[in-house]
Amino acid sequence: MTTPATLMEIATRMPKAELHLHLEGTLEPELAFELAARNGVGLRFSSVEELRRAYDFDDLQSFLDVYYETAEVLRTRQDFYELTAAYLRRASADGVTHVEPFFDPQTHTARGVEFGEVVSGIVSALRDGAAEHGITWRLIMCFLRDQPAADAMATLQAALPYRDVIAGVGLDSAEVGNPPEAFVEVYTRAREEGFAAVAHAGEEGTADDVRRTLDLLGVARIEHGVHAMDDPALVERLARDRVPLTVCPLSNVKLRVYETLAEHPLRRMLDAGIMATVNSDDPAYFGGYVAENYRACIRELGLSRDDLRTLARNSFEASFLPAAEKAAHLAHVEAFFSAMEA
Ligand code: HPA
Ligand code: ZN
Repeated sequence: MTTPATLMEIATRMPKAELHLHLEGTLEPELAFELAARNGVGLRFSSVEELRRAYDFDDLQSFLDVYYETAEVLRTRQDFYELTAAYLRRASADGVTHVEPFFDPQTHTARGVEFGEVVSGIVSALRDGAAEHGITWRLIMCFLRDQPAADAMATLQAALPYRDVIAGVGLDSAEVGNPPEAFVEVYTRAREEGFAAVAHAGEEGTADDVRRTLDLLGVARIEHGVHAMDDPALVERLARDRVPLTVCPLSNVKLRVYETLAEHPLRRMLDAGIMATVNSDDPAYFGGYVAENYRACIRELGLSRDDLRTLARNSFEASFLPAAEKAAHLAHVEAFFSAMEA
């Protein structure tokens, strides 16, 4: 008989991929203050405690306001290196063995930070993390959907020299009022250039937003996608076509997409045969890194050991790794669960 404590241990230790993680969203208040002091950037908060108290959100926009403000402390290649390295240490402790993190280049280039500084800081930390923790990676850059599509296109142009280290493009920031239609041209171009494509949809938006994001942007995965559950025909399509949804349970409660985790549709997604994955989104702001997201879902949604195994498998199957590397990660998942049964 598996005790709840053992399930918690499995959730923490099982090999897993994290596929929905904004590096800027891993900026802990302590590091924000350290970088603010180092770079001579003023923060309107007087202490770490005061900043943490501001992490009480009503919706996506109220979070984004604090997230963009705090990101202003990130200036140099070294800052992006330290941010990424700190995330990888936490991820490794949470059993993460593959990560496909996002970054928001426009948040930084708009302030005069060079695209190449951002990328080289992140990538050198990812390379060091691969050597130190054995974490494989694919990097994804997100376009800001509340900014003009022309800026997204310029960002895509800036990324072309970094095609060897940037695997894909995504779309984030305020979803309501910024539908996918404006980004068709930039996504078409990105896919022609060989980038993998993902996009946030159906977080605060509707099932129809999810459907149009799939049809118009040609994405391989949907970030969040929880509101797809409002439309049975779409649920059937997602399950049939094995479209991965990168679900972020604690994020959805913090941003009040659901008032409590007990109302979250993750359990229903799995029952419907959707390829859901569990992720942390912006863990410094939302109260938990990826393993805590799994543990909270065990407590509130009654996830079983079989659910955990399915979610661990899904996380690698939904990744952009080539088949042989996926198979190697999946073999580690199977070995882990077999050892648990022995
Ligand atoms: N949604 C949209 N934009 C974001 C998010 C999110 O969850 N996190 C960081 N930028
Ligand atoms: Zn997100």
